[in-house]
Amino acid sequence: MDAGSRWGILSNGEWAHRYRLSNDAGVEAQLSDYGATIVSIATPDRDGTPGEVTLGHSSLGGYLGSRAYFGCVVGRYANRIRDGMFTLDEVTHMVTRNHGRHHLHGGLRGFDKVFWNLEEASSSGASFSYLSRDGEEGYPGNLEARVTYTLNERSELRIVYEAKTDEATVVNLTNHTYFNLAGGGDVLGHVLSLDADSYTPADADLLPIGVVAPVEGTPLDFREPKRVGRGMGSAHPQMRVAGGYDHNYVLNGSGFRRVAKLAEPVCGRSLEVYTTQPGLQLYTGNFLDGSDIGRDGVPYLKHGGLCLETQHYPDSPNHPEYPSTALRPGEAYNQETVFRFTVE
Ligand code: GLA
Repeated sequence: MDAGSRWGILSNGEWAHRYRLSNDAGVEAQLSDYGATIVSIATPDRDGTPGEVTLGHSSLGGYLGSRAYFGCVVGRYANRIRDGMFTLDEVTHMVTRNHGRHHLHGGLRGFDKVFWNLEEASSSGASFSYLSRDGEEGYPGNLEARVTYTLNERSELRIVYEAKTDEATVVNLTNHTYFNLAGGGDVLGHVLSLDADSYTPADADLLPIGVVAPVEGTPLDFREPKRVGRGMGSAHPQMRVAGGYDHNYVLNGSGFRRVAKLAEPVCGRSLEVYTTQPGLQLYTGNFLDGSDIGRDGVPYLKHGGLCLETQHYPDSPNHPEYPSTALRPGEAYNQETVFRFTVE
């Protein structure tokens, strides 16, 4: 087992570690037990030159202070829960209101801000576990979560999420990596396609208003490959609430399937996303304002990266018509997402 290398120390004296995965195709991913975070991914461009394709900090300190969720696992419930409240099996639960009056990304100390236990690690994979105690951030039940990353020779970085509980609860886990396939500048020239005919329109607080609407005829339509920046200046009301894309797409089909492709035409790098999840939050880094300083000392600005967060729909615990995020004793939570890196 590769114990990894020490990366940084917390004020309580605990060390965070870094683990390196690599393949013969020249892809390298670095992970940390802090937040089960993807700290870096480097992939070759069209000429074979390796380069960074994610946003992140060079030191642990950057992650401790940031609210941007660079590369981490988000949980226990990724995305928003209206009014920090939901009723499950006739019991009403209050979770932390850390986003105005709403709950976001698991609360004040979500799964991104805790240490995960390393279960196993090698140059091709690492597995982390975390026990989220009953009552943590208001959630019911002790939740045993496990996240496993593997990198294979097809340059697929696979993320398997597993969980079980001893009391009825809700679970929605995702990874919050910001991609920038050019390694710098903004992502407006990246070309994106999403296999989604519809999305869940959001209100001014970015919570779903409860309907599912077709993307047809709107700037949210990515069914054919399109530059990310193309619809950005649109007067469509949904583009004004978010200052860019920050929307949940209702993915077509079910089971493990390809749902998205992102390509950067100048360097030739591309990324395909496969998942078992029903939804994907496209977030174009609208809140990046220069306060997060990146690895090379460069401040991250608006649209400096984008996230393709495979997940269940936001606020599902308050929408019985959405695919369920409930997990009960005896049930197994199991989701899988693959990021596949290629060049063209
Ligand atoms: C998600 C949300 C965004 C924002 C980012 C973190 O993608 O949808 O609104 O909160 O996380 O900055």
